[in-house]
Amino acid sequence: MRADQFAGCELAHREAAGLRRRLRPVDGPQDTWVTVDGRRALLLCSNNYLGLANHPALRAAAQDAAAEYGVGAGASRLISGSMRVHHALEEELAAFKGAEAALLFTSGYQANIGSITTLVGGDDAVFSDELNHASIVDACRLSRAAVFVYPHKDVDALRQLLERSRARRRLVVTDSVFSMDGDIAPLRAICDVAERCGAMVMVDEAHATGVLGPHGGGVVEAERLRERITVQMGTLGKALGTFGAFVAARRDVIDLLINAARSFIYTTALPPPVVAAARAALRIAAADDERRRRLGDNVARLRTGLAALGFDVGDAASHIIPVRIGDVEGTLRVSNRLLDAGVFVQAIRPPTVPPGTARLRITAMSTHTADDMQFAVDAFRQIRGAES
Ligand SMILES: Cc1ncc(COP(=O)(O)O)c(C=O)c1O
Repeated sequence: MRADQFAGCELAHREAAGLRRRLRPVDGPQDTWVTVDGRRALLLCSNNYLGLANHPALRAAAQDAAAEYGVGAGASRLISGSMRVHHALEEELAAFKGAEAALLFTSGYQANIGSITTLVGGDDAVFSDELNHASIVDACRLSRAAVFVYPHKDVDALRQLLERSRARRRLVVTDSVFSMDGDIAPLRAICDVAERCGAMVMVDEAHATGVLGPHGGGVVEAERLRERITVQMGTLGKALGTFGAFVAARRDVIDLLINAARSFIYTTALPPPVVAAARAALRIAAADDERRRRLGDNVARLRTGLAALGFDVGDAASHIIPVRIGDVEGTLRVSNRLLDAGVFVQAIRPPTVPPGTARLRITAMSTHTADDMQFAVDAFRQIRGAES
């Protein structure tokens, strides 16, 4: 057997367990309806919550920036790639998050890796919710700090772990909106115990930025916790419709990240058209409450419709609706049947979610219409009939 034949064996194992993943080509822009695998379908699994990914103002901003600055930054930020447009967006993001300063990263994955590995190291401890995003899990491992995973949203368990810790520095890190369950972390209670134990708090607002809070500033804004959070992380590739991510924090924390965060230092800066489009997105997201209201209306229509059909939609209050099915095979079958009925919802399987909790993760957009939501509910009704 050749040394590289292991790949085929690994894939065969995954195939047998129903866990092999395949890419599905989508034609055209990320709109409310897309063409996937050549079929027209209502898109209900993107993170383009505010419908900005194909917004004319963002497209125009990207086109203008390409004409003015070109398409590439040409180098990392610390070499020659720190273009004026990056600095402008960082100032705007800091103001948006009510922080002294902000720093762009090339993705949310990189933002979590760079921030966590800078905040804690070998002599330290990091406390992480068991359902935190994979990028946080990886960052905790890379940091070399002692990692304590606490049960989901269990502040009392977190308190006990913190009280027992004798580490030099301690960091509590949590998603604000959990990406696969849509529920929201008890941030105020987390801040209370962290402060009592002298720990820092970092919040990943990937799914909340642009959507939650009076001006889209996230759960931290909604709960008025800005002063109590060491690092607020947000992404540009979800509600803000573009690409990249940022962290907002005190000026000295940001300056330390510029000096120490390897995923910031050793990578090419974001392309100027993307940055310009993100600035346009931020202007819309910060001002357009109507967009947030329409998203909320669509989510409520879907949630009510699916619950009435008997689907387990959980009780999370955010814009992410997890429809738990449990077994991998059943979840894949429902997802495929939905696509046949004109609705695109991916099956979410382990290891993205714990074994036995495979699900459909349904996300509406504010640009969907009431008719779109009815179409989705009708498709689920049809599937319900076929499955029973
Ligand atoms: C909670 C959370 N954090 C971080 C990320 C990573 O962000 P990005 O896609 O920008 O790498 C994601 C999703 O991708 C996420 O859901």
